[in-house]
Amino acid sequence: MIKSDIGIIGLAVMGQNLVLNIERNGYTVAVYNRTLEKLNEFINGKGRDKNIIGCYTLDEFCNSLKQPRIIILLIKAGKPVDDFISKLLPLLKSEDIIIDGGNSFFRDTIRRSEKLENEGIQYLGVGFSGGEEGVLKGPSIMPGGSIKAWQQMEKLFQKISAKINGDPCCFYIGSDGAGHYVKMVHNGIEYSYMQLISEVYFILKKLLGITSSELAKLFAEWNEGDLNSYLIQITSKILAEKDPETGKPLIDVILDTAKQKGTGKWASQEALEMGIAIPSITEAVYARNISSKKDERLKASKLLEGPIPHFSGEINKLVEATRKALFAAKICSYAQGFSLLKAASEEYKWQLNLKNIAHIWRKGCIIRSHLLEQIESAFQHNKNLDNLLLDSYFSNVIKNNQKDWRYIVTLAVKNGIPVPALSSTLSYYDSYRNPSLPANLIQAQRDYFGAHGFERVDKEIGRIFHYDNWPPLYD
Ligand code: 6PG
Repeated sequence: MIKSDIGIIGLAVMGQNLVLNIERNGYTVAVYNRTLEKLNEFINGKGRDKNIIGCYTLDEFCNSLKQPRIIILLIKAGKPVDDFISKLLPLLKSEDIIIDGGNSFFRDTIRRSEKLENEGIQYLGVGFSGGEEGVLKGPSIMPGGSIKAWQQMEKLFQKISAKINGDPCCFYIGSDGAGHYVKMVHNGIEYSYMQLISEVYFILKKLLGITSSELAKLFAEWNEGDLNSYLIQITSKILAEKDPETGKPLIDVILDTAKQKGTGKWASQEALEMGIAIPSITEAVYARNISSKKDERLKASKLLEGPIPHFSGEINKLVEATRKALFAAKICSYAQGFSLLKAASEEYKWQLNLKNIAHIWRKGCIIRSHLLEQIESAFQHNKNLDNLLLDSYFSNVIKNNQKDWRYIVTLAVKNGIPVPALSSTLSYYDSYRNPSLPANLIQAQRDYFGAHGFERVDKEIGRIFHYDNWPPLYD
């Protein structure tokens, strides 16, 4: 009986496409799915006449694999991953490799890595990005975990990944949960960029009243310049689509309540834990949260007043200012993601290579963008760069774009158009670049009501003073 090179559990669309990608690259793949109906459908459909072996039990699946066994789980994150690991463990031998290819929470991956290492099993937590199409044609791959397992997987992963001039978009990220952490931050940036694009779309729609097909053309033009990216490209395609049922632009029949599976929230929670500011990402999560309260919003819309959007200036100038605002905000949101990665690298001792991460994200993934080439080169020049905004290329772009960015945020605020990501990102930029912030007043307030102490501008940092003579407050 032919033994398979690798096994994949989970035949939802991502799983199926990963199987097809690996098989196309010259490997024999064993497949298993919890519901046998889906398994049959796949092996008799897309997987037919290929080096794909359908297995009806986990026993059969494990027996069909060459040793050491390599098993990729592409199943729902959370409990199902633990459940499958428990079912697999009695069927595996020391040195076998389990790979979790889902969007798992990195702390779960750290816990599972430790547990499996104690059982003699090698474990990898791998972030795959690129959606259905990317996984089929060449995803961006972020592998973390056992270095020995990585060495065994390197050839296969790099073969199936996206490539830039032949260079794979897949490098080892770091131990235990590092791969899933980097995927989480990828998704955080994805949330923020999607939100920024949506805000810009809304400003243009509300203020200029231009049609979706005109907007589609505009986004297609933008995609030819600095903003070139997958998300701008798909936005242009989305806006050009018509609803077959009503003939209206498809975008206008889609309900404005955004769903989420949790990776953006995790990135925000993690940034809070670490004391790193990533407001563009967190505001994008909040924006999805508020959008989901549709009933409440409808009630509020009848009660809470605001200005009626109106614009009487030059259309072309507004469009160009919007483009420049989006580009500047986009840079700051990527900068926040990378600053979170830098902090995590120190906190978890992962020694993350930020240049390689920028390279991995340049192709195959959802946040792929022309900008990442510049980000890669910024980290090539200085691997310890604290924040991308300190790199001259980025500081210059924002220097040139900030006037338009401020104009767009002001215009949106004046017209009552919500721009949580554009505006909070601008405040991030202004806070980061300001040598003095009003935090001295916060320190004074803390000292007043709680004797928490403060440092002085004219004494060494770290030395704590307390003011004894705060005047008492008489109510
Ligand atoms: C990717 C995507 C993918 C998934 C998102 C969607 O990189 O291929 O990020 O992982 O589409 O996680 O996330 P939400 O459902 O939370 O928007």
